[in-house]
Amino acid sequence: MFDGMIDVALPKGRLGEKVYDIFEAAGYGCPAIRENSRKLIFEDRSRGVRYFWVKPSDVSIYVERGAADIGVAGKDILLEYLPDVYELLDLDMGRCRMAVAGPKTFRDDTGRVLRVATKFPRIAGEYYRKQSREIDIIKLNGSIELAPLLGLSDVIVDIVETGTTLRENGLTVLEEIVPVSARLIANRAAWQFGHNRIGPLCDAIARVCAGKEDGTR
Ligand code: PRP
Repeated sequence: MFDGMIDVALPKGRLGEKVYDIFEAAGYGCPAIRENSRKLIFEDRSRGVRYFWVKPSDVSIYVERGAADIGVAGKDILLEYLPDVYELLDLDMGRCRMAVAGPKTFRDDTGRVLRVATKFPRIAGEYYRKQSREIDIIKLNGSIELAPLLGLSDVIVDIVETGTTLRENGLTVLEEIVPVSARLIANRAAWQFGHNRIGPLCDAIARVCAGKEDGTR
């Protein structure tokens, strides 16, 4: 917003609170954010920081276009949308994996085009292109596990965290594609030209993360 505050896009939802904990531990707390409300913007003028709750898959759009200086996005989103941002740090949280999953009895018939349901068409396309496997991508927006159960697809390419969703729907991981975790990202111009403003916050976050790894926190 060009008023000297650091604008931070946080992913709304299961990861968001944990991500905010790191910013707070880094000395950039904004107590009002803990209040239960539908507000989307919170700022703490004394610390010079403003937070927005953003849909996780939109964080990199806000950062790429400079509506936020920095943000936290999953590696899955960065691989899928290839936003033009700096990836500064692996926050070592939100760990999960991108995988091919399907029915336990699934056997690939390479004589047929493989039908793949996914929210991540680029990641899925790239994965099978490298294997020269011809696929038909069915782009869905959620509850991907339904697709093979209803015969809409043969397999899915999706995020697996605990594996519970797959298990409870009689599906299993068939192949692992890539590990995923939350990353701190920065707008390129903000990082290059506003480093005095943003650098200290990013350094403080890096120290909090390093401390967690050492077990000193
Ligand atoms: C994600 C993913 C799986 C589930 C995996 O969905 O697409 O469905 O989480 O987690 P698990 O291995 O711990 O069960 P999300 O909850 O984001 O909702 P969606 O179905 O709308 O994509």
